Amino acid sequence: MPKRFYITTPLYYVNDEPHIGHAYTTILADVLARYHKLFGAEVRFLTGVDEHGQKILQAASAAGLKPQAHCDEMAKRYKSIWTQLSIDYDVFFRTTHSQHKSFVQAVLTNLYAKGEIYSAEYAGWYCTPDERFWMEKDLDHDNCPLCGRVVEHLTEKNYFFKMSAYQQWLIDWIYTHDDFVQPLFRRNEVLGFLRQPLADLCISRPKERLSWGIPLPFDESYVTYVWFDALLNYLSATRIHPDAGFTPEFWPADLHLIGKDILTTHTVYWPIMLHAAGFEPPRTIFAHGWWLSDKGKMSKSQGAVVRPLDIAAKYSADAFRYVLMREMTPGQDTNFSEEMFIQRYNSDLANDLGNLYSRLAKLWEKFNCSSHPIDDQISSCYAIDTELASIFEMIFEKIKIDINAELKPNSAIENIMIFIRGLNKQLEIWAPWKTGGQNISALGTSLAWAFRSLDLAATLLKPVMPSKMQELQNAIGMKDGIPHPQPGLNLFPRIDLKNVKMESHSRVKEVSIDEFSRFDLRIAEIIGADYVEGAAKLLKLQIDLGGEKRQIVAGIAQSYAPTELIGKRIVVIANLKPTTLRGVLSQGMLLAAGDGQRRYIIQPDGDAPAGSKVK
Ligand code: ME8
Ligand code: MG
Repeated sequence: MPKRFYITTPLYYVNDEPHIGHAYTTILADVLARYHKLFGAEVRFLTGVDEHGQKILQAASAAGLKPQAHCDEMAKRYKSIWTQLSIDYDVFFRTTHSQHKSFVQAVLTNLYAKGEIYSAEYAGWYCTPDERFWMEKDLDHDNCPLCGRVVEHLTEKNYFFKMSAYQQWLIDWIYTHDDFVQPLFRRNEVLGFLRQPLADLCISRPKERLSWGIPLPFDESYVTYVWFDALLNYLSATRIHPDAGFTPEFWPADLHLIGKDILTTHTVYWPIMLHAAGFEPPRTIFAHGWWLSDKGKMSKSQGAVVRPLDIAAKYSADAFRYVLMREMTPGQDTNFSEEMFIQRYNSDLANDLGNLYSRLAKLWEKFNCSSHPIDDQISSCYAIDTELASIFEMIFEKIKIDINAELKPNSAIENIMIFIRGLNKQLEIWAPWKTGGQNISALGTSLAWAFRSLDLAATLLKPVMPSKMQELQNAIGMKDGIPHPQPGLNLFPRIDLKNVKMESHSRVKEVSIDEFSRFDLRIAEIIGADYVEGAAKLLKLQIDLGGEKRQIVAGIAQSYAPTELIGKRIVVIANLKPTTLRGVLSQGMLLAAGDGQRRYIIQPDGDAPAGSKVK
């Protein structure tokens, strides 16, 4: 019986369209799934979207849609992008699936009946805008440590899952299951986290605060905390998607791929939830690192968004898959830039791989190899053939280790590319363009051998570049060991860096007039200014907003002295979430121009009164 292999990605929040980070995890899962199929396993691959909770509700209302309609729209977007990136999933999971909701409720009912869930009065300091509770010790000068605003003391009944009871069990599990958390340094991180006492997990949200979720089966006035609902997808898929070949035998999952941002939920909450409910934990949770840009983590909230489809449309989806897989060592953070992309593309795909085919096809045509008796030559060339077979065997074994044991598609790719580069070198040594005319049969035999090698390499690279490698094999046209190459195929045209307009970073997303009108821009007068201790770039400004006085912090200390600012009228975003910078409260932000060191504050014409709205 073939080995089963069940692999998952996180379910992505549908509050915005997919970016490079989502594309990366999903491509990685797809590539691993395809390799496992090549190695003969029976594979199930799940990806999907996380549709409940506050974030989604907010995104829906910003888009002017009912939450379900918003989710339907976003699920469609994700699916179409995955299709364009050749993601061959078996199930696209949605947490609003009615059977998933029933499954979550069944697990909750069971845990509640077993006494694993209890209700308790929870008293704490609540920040309404951030919708979260804080403990007294977390407060920042009695205010919310996140946004600096006032908090109120609330007592609320909620439901709690007895996570603390399983802390020792989890520690033992991790110690006795070497592969459970990978890479190793993440395993140590989790064990470190587990040295502190684990708290019970609040798994309910009162409906009056949040209605978009799965109702608790034992108390209809609450919905389920979004993580408790979403994590269960991995298991519920094996119960509710028999249509896609998902059956209970596929549990436990072999590999949950996640980003390091969601390590605790997956390695602490999730195994304990499973264990308490009587299920086995997954075999491996692998946390990869982040794609970074020069501005930090690439994500929707950071604005440094590379749209996967922009890159894929420009240079082909397969090239995008290749570069992402080749550049990142799973586990570590990696920088992404279009320059890096083009360099890798040119060196590996245009030069080494694409060029090899072009050269071989040209020589084949030039010396008219098709009209010479190659097949006799090849069968008499047995030594070369067995050599090729053993080289292939060796690479195949190497990449099996890279993929199965090490989870390093980047080294698998590198091992295949070493082989490709070797073929290019071999061609230089033979230099058939010099001697070819003299012994065409021998030349044909050598070229046929090189084509066969390239054909095998294409098989090995197909999980990474499914369409391009199929195209390559079609072009080689191998039949009983004899190639029938099509001349003129340029698989990966070279990109000239000079001609490329770098769009991905500078591209500014369009906004609607409604989105713009959410910014409360106002004229303010500066009535006081001072330096911020220990911060070379910051000034602390007292401003008058037409009656209302406020303090804002601005990064203009290297362009203006405090004294020259007094009396100046400026433009501020008045409804920006307050924040604390270097311990100084900032309730708004001023507008200034300039990218480099020098900043120019924006001032109104004439004497537009303080407090007036900027439209
Ligand atoms: O956390 N680099 O969803 P999410 C690499 N719904 N990967 C990145 C990345 C980056 N810069 N940014 C995001 C959620 N990712 C929950 C998960 S699972 C039951 C619920 C990838 O939309 C990475 O896989 O915030 C990360 O874990 C995931 O996107 C987070 O997606
Ligand atoms: Mg996130």
